[in-house]
Amino acid sequence: MKYFIETWGCQMNERDTETIAGLLEEMGYSPGKKDEADVIILNTCCVREKAEQKVYGEIGHLRHLKSKNPNLVIGICGCMAQQEEVAEKMRQRFPHIDLIFGTHNIHQLPRLLERARKFNEVQVEIWEREGEIIEHLPARRADKFKAYVSVTYGCNNFCTYCIVPYVRGRERSRLPEDILKEIKDLVEQGTVEVMLLGQNVNSYGKDLDKEIDFADLLQMVDEVKGLRRIRYMTSHPRDFTDKLIATIAASDHVCEHFHLPVQAGSNDVLQKMNRGYTREQYMELVEKIRRQVPGASITTDIIVGFPGETEEDFQDTLDLVKKVQFDAAFTFLYSPRKGTVAAKMPDQIPDEVKKERFQRLLELQNSISLASNKRLVGSTVEVLVEGKSKTNPHKLSGRTRTNKVVIFEGPEEIIGKFVPIKITEAKTWNLEGNVEHQGEGG
Ligand code: 5AD
Ligand code: SF4
Repeated sequence: MKYFIETWGCQMNERDTETIAGLLEEMGYSPGKKDEADVIILNTCCVREKAEQKVYGEIGHLRHLKSKNPNLVIGICGCMAQQEEVAEKMRQRFPHIDLIFGTHNIHQLPRLLERARKFNEVQVEIWEREGEIIEHLPARRADKFKAYVSVTYGCNNFCTYCIVPYVRGRERSRLPEDILKEIKDLVEQGTVEVMLLGQNVNSYGKDLDKEIDFADLLQMVDEVKGLRRIRYMTSHPRDFTDKLIATIAASDHVCEHFHLPVQAGSNDVLQKMNRGYTREQYMELVEKIRRQVPGASITTDIIVGFPGETEEDFQDTLDLVKKVQFDAAFTFLYSPRKGTVAAKMPDQIPDEVKKERFQRLLELQNSISLASNKRLVGSTVEVLVEGKSKTNPHKLSGRTRTNKVVIFEGPEEIIGKFVPIKITEAKTWNLEGNVEHQGEGG
């Protein structure tokens, strides 16, 4: 019996997919291709409308596989499925779906799957609220050398554009001992890099009985023997304390990469977004980081066309981008999400205006990204080799500590290893280089 899982969205969804795969493998399924699978699970994202449209398209496509193989079980889960009205719509529109479950009850998959097979009718189970964190679920990890480790679930911030707090529930932190045990076990099995995951990692610990914050947790993880790199995703600029910067600066393994979503450069828009900081505070944070962590790379997320955004507000965003000089930015067109505060705000921005602003921002950021990459040409950087390059299968691809993608030639045996790479060429989205052999050159 084979399974196939398709995943949209963020790292939390990718991590959930590992759990779903683990549960299915415990039931005796093994991974397979889509057209030979006995179970297909779509793990969905609802953060923007575009993601949802892709999922609807894919569900439509699966109809023909179902007609070829009536025993095929099709399941939908993740953030789209967590919204009850969306689940109901899917059920009515796509009678070939067998299973719908939400983000809070993934652990019930084995039971739901068995019921779907036995009763031959659609099984829908969505928990309205999050339950206790469930530890010790199986996981089939996507990679051997690097691993996602959840530290918090949910989000309490309620940024006005964002659907996440509605589909991922309130903030909950895992116990430090559970996190450390997971990391130590992973390291024993060959993991050298972990990414600590949460919607807002720097509020870690606020809900625990113990006195512990994210900086304390990072320090504990930094001491795990054998671990070489620590990353984390995502941190909120508002909660990025001096203690956290000092801890990162003093650590051995926390990477010099700061992903700090700014979302907008205008104080008016930031306030309407409920972000809890001003552009001045954000830029001061960046200054502090650059002073204390030399060579740090800083990346961001930016939303264009938030309701009420004027040309002047947008100019503030361009200005901030010029001043900060991000190494890279993920830019998004604002997408109204039903149920959020911003979706009901007046002055929604017309699509053409959003797209035109988006293009200007993209051009500006692309030139800044390229300039930032060019500064590395001629230097030698430590790269963790991740696998074959997606853009050029004859080459390998890996990442620097600062999270830049480097493409180079080399034997497959070095996948999973750290190698020094001399950078020879800079592109907007990645670097190219050559393995520097020890004893050769400087
Ligand atoms: N529209 C556009 N972008 C959004 N994001 C979150 N919600 C929306 C939305 N409604 C972006 C934010 C966030 C990233 C993961 O997705 O920039 O940081
Ligand atoms: Fe959404 Fe804001 Fe929470 Fe991030 S911090 S998940 S943008 S509500």
